[in-house]
Amino acid sequence: MNKLRHFVSLLDLSSSELRGLIARAIELKNHRDPNYQPLKGQLLAMVFEKSSTRTRISFEAGMAHFGGSALFLSPRDTQLGRGEPLRDSAKVISSMVDCIMLRTDKHETVTTFAEHSSVPVINGLTDQEHPCQLLADMQTYFELRGDIQGKTVAWIGDGNNMCHSYIHAASLLDFTLHIASPAGYEPQAAYVDAAGARIKCFAKPLDAAQGADLVVTDVWASMGQEEEQAQRVAAFKDYQVDRQVMQAAKADALFMHCLPAHRGEEVSAEVIDGPQSVVFPEAKNRLHAQKALLEFLLCQK
Ligand code: CP
Ligand code: NVA
Repeated sequence: MNKLRHFVSLLDLSSSELRGLIARAIELKNHRDPNYQPLKGQLLAMVFEKSSTRTRISFEAGMAHFGGSALFLSPRDTQLGRGEPLRDSAKVISSMVDCIMLRTDKHETVTTFAEHSSVPVINGLTDQEHPCQLLADMQTYFELRGDIQGKTVAWIGDGNNMCHSYIHAASLLDFTLHIASPAGYEPQAAYVDAAGARIKCFAKPLDAAQGADLVVTDVWASMGQEEEQAQRVAAFKDYQVDRQVMQAAKADALFMHCLPAHRGEEVSAEVIDGPQSVVFPEAKNRLHAQKALLEFLLCQK
């Protein structure tokens, strides 16, 4: 019997598995065969404690392409929202489906599910990490610029779930990550320390962007932090990715954002709607990258 694999964190993959998954995502995108239905009859349960456009649609479409189906579960409609223990829920749900994807507030909700599930568990975003987005971001970079090894990525803004997963990507794919976050909003030390010398922290966005091959940002207030919006706008006001920041990067640098974006806050409209921005191919690649992930987790020989 194959060992059960989960995708709670990007670090659940080895470097070569991540590179293989990116290559497979590109292959699935460029050579779609409607007769290839490796997940025929299989079911993905999707538990969403928070909103989603891209994650929900890409997983649902991916399962449909592969001949399977997806079940949307909101805690409002299940006993999860009424406090049924996570371990009981994980045992029950996993006894009826082939895979479980969760988007939750607490990272521990996903790790607890993984501990008690009899089928693969996928992290569709937690307060700590967003590994599925990194699959799509890295696929997009590889498609447009080739291997990211040895390159420099600049993360401008909140040291949040996306930033943590970028730190993991830097370790696995061997690139340098420059991070510029306002004081008090830096990524957690455990993530930075574990990644070693590849991570370089800067006070100013222009310094972090210097010579970067890829510039990335994310919202100033993530889901669940809405009440901190005003305070965060004040703290992040000098951390917008604008024309000056992109000019500090290499001339052929790309701009990415996981979306949804706030034009005029973390990124100027000129940058996100400009020629260096690849946010829409990046969003579209969620579908292809996660098809490769589902195949990897569910079709192991
Ligand atoms: N980037 C991302 O995860 O988008 P959604 O919140 O729409 O799923
Ligand atoms: N950091 C953002 C990402 C959204 C896809 C959030 O957690 O809301």
